[in-house]
Amino acid sequence: MKVRSIYILILCCLFNAAAYAQIKAKDGTILAPKPPMGWMTWNYFADQINEKDIMEMADAIVSTGMLEAGYNYVFIDDGWQGGRDNRNNIIADPKKFPSGMKALADYVHSKGLKLGIYSDAALLTCAGYTASLGFEEQDAKVFASWGVDYLKYDYCNAPDDVETAGVRYKTMGQALRNSGRDIVFGICEWGGRKPWLWAAQAGGQLWRTTNDVRDKWKRRNAEEGGEGILDILDLNASLHQYAGPGHWNDMDMLVVGLNGKKGPSGDLGGTGCTNTEYQSQMSLWSILAAPLAATNDLRDMSEDAKRILLNKEVIAVNQDVLGQQAIRKMNNGNWTILLKPLENGDYALAILNRTNTSQITVCDFASLGLNGKYQIRDLWQHKLVGKDKKWKGSINAHETKLFRLSKAN
Ligand code: GLA
Repeated sequence: MKVRSIYILILCCLFNAAAYAQIKAKDGTILAPKPPMGWMTWNYFADQINEKDIMEMADAIVSTGMLEAGYNYVFIDDGWQGGRDNRNNIIADPKKFPSGMKALADYVHSKGLKLGIYSDAALLTCAGYTASLGFEEQDAKVFASWGVDYLKYDYCNAPDDVETAGVRYKTMGQALRNSGRDIVFGICEWGGRKPWLWAAQAGGQLWRTTNDVRDKWKRRNAEEGGEGILDILDLNASLHQYAGPGHWNDMDMLVVGLNGKKGPSGDLGGTGCTNTEYQSQMSLWSILAAPLAATNDLRDMSEDAKRILLNKEVIAVNQDVLGQQAIRKMNNGNWTILLKPLENGDYALAILNRTNTSQITVCDFASLGLNGKYQIRDLWQHKLVGKDKKWKGSINAHETKLFRLSKAN
């Protein structure tokens, strides 16, 4: 057995021994008890960010109803850094953030929002900015002094091996715990080192399971690279046992509303999705209990983007306090069926038509382990569509039906 496999095995045993490693916040509750929700700068602005745009986006989170629907983080991604001062304290770029990061955090907090920031477990970030290796304790304390509530910690420019990744993430995880502030820790090494086996032990509340999402339904061929919605679904859907309150599989940002915008999500075939596909992403990310990070321009949202991102019945599936990631019950060339138990005894059921044509199907609930009759509520039509032991109907190409099933007498 190779050293790397032995290491993963040990990490795996450790994970199982403390399967639900949860970090407690100062008030005794667990950190990130539900999948974090918010808006992230990356796919709209890339590294061309500044305090004015971020404040406008914070205002828009409130005015569009996003905050009320649960999106309560503003996540600043790569590109905010301006190097270090003469005491080696990391600083924000003074041209992009002339008022400083503390003032921005205060502004964001005054709106009832929380602030996320970004760094990397190496000397430079993915976009080539100052990162935190060797300065973990100091940077965590600086972030805490600004009032940061969340850190996305990337892994560009770092060694490939899982041992080093484990050590580097654990070092920052510990630094955040020592910082005196509750800071949620988002691990972003893109899934290659199976972070679901070790990232919770390293202090993470969530970990990316895949490479970066692109604004497309699926990879057209192996050479194209870049992950589409379906590619990420297929990588993530078998990982349900690792998700729960305080530890989530992160499927990367929602591409809803980007509509083929140029920039990070627009390369590698990211030419945009249909509204049916965006709606599917919202359904699938929700039932799989993934963090919901929008990244479109909230100041100028189409009615479709609003309808999709603000569907409270769908968000309730994502934010259900039981915190279970759906179990994949069926997966073949035509269909993916996912079932998520909910806290009040209901189930969320997603049926995805993977084919390129509309199909009629029958889903027999007994085949999912659900016996008897259920009230069937369609969470996109917002109405009851039956009371039965099965659902039968037509599903469009790439559409995901999302139902809430409640036991009927
Ligand atoms: C990596 C991450 C992205 C984004 C960029 C920033 O690619 O996976 O989500 O944070 O870096 O440079």
